[in-house]
Amino acid sequence: MYESFYGMSATPFTRATPVSELLGTHASEEILSRLGYAAEQQLFAVVTGECGTGKTTLIRKFTENLDHSRFKPLYLADSKLTPRHFYKGLLEQMGCESKFYRGDAKRLLHQQVELMKGMHQLSPVVIVDEAHLLDREMLEELRFLLNFRMDAESPMALVLVGQSELQDRLRLQTFAAIRQRIDLQCRMPHFDRSETGGYMERQIEYSGAGRDLFTAAAVDEIHNWSGGAARLINKAATHCLIFGSGQGHRVIDDHMVRQVIDGELN
Ligand SMILES: Nc1ncnc2c1ncn2[C@@H]1O[C@H](COP(=O)(O)OP(=O)(O)OP(=O)(O)O)[C@@H](O)[C@H]1O
Ligand SMILES: [Mg+2]
Repeated sequence: MYESFYGMSATPFTRATPVSELLGTHASEEILSRLGYAAEQQLFAVVTGECGTGKTTLIRKFTENLDHSRFKPLYLADSKLTPRHFYKGLLEQMGCESKFYRGDAKRLLHQQVELMKGMHQLSPVVIVDEAHLLDREMLEELRFLLNFRMDAESPMALVLVGQSELQDRLRLQTFAAIRQRIDLQCRMPHFDRSETGGYMERQIEYSGAGRDLFTAAAVDEIHNWSGGAARLINKAATHCLIFGSGQGHRVIDDHMVRQVIDGELN
């Protein structure tokens, strides 16, 4: 709706931003390289961070950039994941129909993983997003995957991704067996001021507007309000663009940002 006013050919600040246009911050590049190592070595990694900081986006980038001739990403994001759905989801992504009974499904998964590795030289990389919402039963079940690793060579990489509560839960004594098996732990931080600026610039550039639309003081306001969380930056920026185009302002300054935040976002 504001795109034509600002001369944009693509809508910025949305979830649909192509992976190639994502801002690679120092922290996100570091996590990507660790996850690459986890895939290579078939390790167990945990990625945590506050909501809206870009974890799922980072995983999207990670899976798209994986060498698909060597790795098979298997991604699950289900807030009510049960062991049954877990095996079903993994098996389906491996092109296989699941079994009704959990024990049968487990065995089948084991076989399929062996087959994938043996015949196709493909290593599975299992990613469970929204892992902070997993219940105890499901977390316990993950141990099964980790127990696979009794063999000398571990058959798959496992990446759990979730909000910070995941880390707190894994600290509980009942999950010690899982915690002890974590090989790599990564934390997704908020953007700092310069990253928020870089992020917004990149989004505007991607939109094709061809010039800066936010003044530096406007970026300061958005950064302060959002705390550097990508989702909130997107929200504030989008509201500002709608407001700005409605008012006929070509450039968005801090005064306008404050008006939008006070009027629409707080
Ligand atoms: N590096 C980035 N470049 C561009 N956009 C990003 C980047 N990181 C995150 N975003 C955008 O920010 C929004 C929130 O990101 P995302 O959904 O990945 O967060 P999250 O940490 O998974 O949140 P939650 O904890 O709620 O699952 C998305 O709309 C996404 O497109
Ligand atoms: Mg997410």
